[in-house]
Order: sequence, then C-alpha cells, then structure tokens
Amino acid sequence: MNKPLRIALTKGRLEKDTIGLFEKIGYDCTAVREKGRKLILPVSDGNLEVVLAKANDVITYVEHGVCDIGVVGKDTIMEMEGKFYELCDLGFGRCRFALAAKKGSKFYGGYDVKTIATKYPNVARNYFESKGMDVEIVKIEGSVELAPLLELSDGIVDIVETGTTLKENGLEVIEYIADISARLIVNVVSMKLRQKEIENLVRLVEENIGE
Ligand code: PRP
Repeated sequence: MNKPLRIALTKGRLEKDTIGLFEKIGYDCTAVREKGRKLILPVSDGNLEVVLAKANDVITYVEHGVCDIGVVGKDTIMEMEGKFYELCDLGFGRCRFALAAKKGSKFYGGYDVKTIATKYPNVARNYFESKGMDVEIVKIEGSVELAPLLELSDGIVDIVETGTTLKENGLEVIEYIADISARLIVNVVSMKLRQKEIENLVRLVEENIGE
C-alpha cells in the first residue's frame, strides 16, 4: 500500500469544520477527535494522515513537500504567498479583511502619513500600494484592535468576522479589502506524483462542501 497522503490542517478555528467535512466524506476521524496532545494522526478509510499545525506552518509544510495537502485560510495565503496550487474554496471560515479605525476618526482626512497596525503586514502593504498611498506599518501579534485605542496607529488591517470585536471597542470598518475562507492547497510535486489520489480527494471534498 502507498504511504498515506499527508494533509496539514490549521489548528483552531478551521479544525472543527475540516474534520466535519472529512466525516461527511466518510473518513473516520476518531483519532483526530481524541487527539490529546498528539500532532500526527491517522484518518482511517481515507488512507490519509493529518498533521495539526499553525496556519503559517501549514503553508511552509506544503511548500516544502513534507505535507502533500493543506487546509488554510485565504488570509494566510495572501500574507505568505508561496508556491503551491490552491484547488478549492472550502466555503467555511468565512470572514473579510478590512481597514478599520476609531469611529468617526476620518481616517482619510489630513495629509500626514498614516500608521497601520496589523498581523498581516504584506496584505496591508499591498493594499495601500495599490491605492498609491504611503503608510507606516507596525506588526502586531494579536488583539490588533488595541493599537488605535492605545494611539499606536491610525487604523488597522485585520480580519472581521461578526464585527463584534470592532463594535465593542469603538472601531468601525472604513473599507473591506477581500473575502476570506478556508482553501485546499496542494504541493506542486505531489500534484504530479500522486495526481489520481489527490484528484479523487478533491472530487470528494467538492461533492461534500456546504450544507
Ligand atoms: C480575530 C481578528 C479579530 C477578531 C474578529 O482575532 O483578528 O480580532 O477575530 O472577529 P469578530 O469580527 O467576530 O469579532 P482572533 O480571535 O483570531 O485573535 P487574535 O486577535 O488574538 O489573533
């Protein structure tokens, strides 16, 4: 028997929906559901092996070919770029990239160079470059909404899902930048060497996406 296809899953927010999708396909995910602290887990029936990793690392593992497939948010793909195939939109993990600022702060007013706090410096840089606007970018690791409240920045580029975090902190969306959802990505070499198995998995995924 072939060695199992190895698939890197983003831990946390996307994990539950990905496992739900696999179970809908008919894969037995008991080992993943009862994982404890284990990080590499078999998914039986499907000849798959699941690796649980942080979003950026999912891309690193797939790019380097140590995982054949990855499930990761479009936000991370936009930030990291990299060489791999993006094959399907999985339809869950839906949210948006937005530029936000303190309510009523007139972000585009004045001529001073604005400061933007973000966990996604490349996304923010590309966005303002596309507008021909010079900004200073400050990288923040989490709870980015704090930066304008502490007056470190004029605005933030961040993910908005329900909008609750912005609302509860007196911030508002200035502009939406891009739609985000979970994507299935595939290593370039694996796509050649294990094409049949990967195409079969993609077909099953596509048949089982959605309600
Ligand atoms: C994300 C994002 C926002 C929040 C948006 O943060 O960075 O802070 O979720 O969600 P909402 O619109 O539904 O309120 P996350 O929870 O991943 O934590 P972090 O900020 O510590 O990275």
